[in-house]
Amino acid sequence: MKNIVVLVSGTGTNLQRIIDGVDSGEIGDAKISMVVADRQCLGLERAKDHQIAAHLIPRGEAFSADLKSILPPDTDLIVLAGFLSILNKEFCESFSGKIINIHPALLPKFGGKGMWGTHVHRAVLEGGEKQSGATVHFVTSGIDEGEIILQKSFEVSADETIESLAAKVHDVEFEIFPEAIDKVLKFPL
Ligand code: GRF
Repeated sequence: MKNIVVLVSGTGTNLQRIIDGVDSGEIGDAKISMVVADRQCLGLERAKDHQIAAHLIPRGEAFSADLKSILPPDTDLIVLAGFLSILNKEFCESFSGKIINIHPALLPKFGGKGMWGTHVHRAVLEGGEKQSGATVHFVTSGIDEGEIILQKSFEVSADETIESLAAKVHDVEFEIFPEAIDKVLKFPL
């Protein structure tokens, strides 16, 4: 049985998708051993509703070290599911190949510092992109620079808004995230 720790900062719909994917067996032979948030958020409540150990570590300088101190030693994978803090270099290096993130665009485009949430969707629309999508990738100390695990795209329509784009991206995320997690657990780096 593989152990997953999920980090969240927001509504946690991706966390919910992972919970459902574990329950349905889509993510095979795995359990979520812990959910950690860097702020009070709905994602934390979702974890509690599903009897998953839920911790709040306030965002800030000490986050990575504090997370390391409570991480179960048998953790196989750390999943960033709408998580907004940056994990420090030391943390990323000590869990190299064991941290993955979902990004709401087609990396390597529209990644890096400041590229999160609606900022990404606005940049995609302003850039006149014909396509957007979502990317699951390994986390390294370079923001959004780690190896891509899975990516899926869709057409950006002529009347697209930030809200409609965000909804389409979420649908793609719900498709590729469980698949990527299952893949990484089965074939670790
Ligand atoms: C997702 O679109 C994710 O890619 C981005 O933030 C959003 C999180 O949504 N980083 P949720 O908290 O999973 O609902």
